[in-house]
Amino acid sequence: MVRLWRCEICGDPYIGETPPYNCPFCGAHRQHIKEAKDANVNFDVSLSAHDRADAEHALKVEVSNSAFYFCAAEKTDDAEGRLLFKALGKIEAEHAAIWRKILKLDAVPKGSEQCHISNRENLGESHAREARAIDFYRRAAGESENLRIRQIFEALVEIETDHLHLSEQRLK
Ligand SMILES: [Fe+2]
Ligand SMILES: [Fe+2]
Repeated sequence: MVRLWRCEICGDPYIGETPPYNCPFCGAHRQHIKEAKDANVNFDVSLSAHDRADAEHALKVEVSNSAFYFCAAEKTDDAEGRLLFKALGKIEAEHAAIWRKILKLDAVPKGSEQCHISNRENLGESHAREARAIDFYRRAAGESENLRIRQIFEALVEIETDHLHLSEQRLK
């Protein structure tokens, strides 16, 4: 029997017989996916100045990475690579939407980034971007005193680490 599930990180709903192993929208791990009626999702957070600055930076990172991936999804010279970068672009756009909700903005700012023709170069840039995002999110998670903000930063560390592994497998 199908049920309605909800991701506690991005808040998006999912219909299926079993909960997905990763949120299909933001990539959050299984422990963040609950039956919708039991899910605890809150974007109405009162932000300290420090949390706000980190959330604003996180939004910029995700908008930039999403734009890079959508560029690579069009240009990279490898069929599987185009699919990978499209999937990553959608996930990073979802991450940008999380920060848009936390910051109570009407819209996500539009990003524009260059990318490469060479799939290897795009994988290398993906690796560098994800590594930078992870370092930042780890630092931000450690510094926030807000449980919800910390929960999001910690979930993003796990998700971006998955993305790091995708480029590492392909760059071997
Ligand atoms: Fe992301
Ligand atoms: Fe990522």
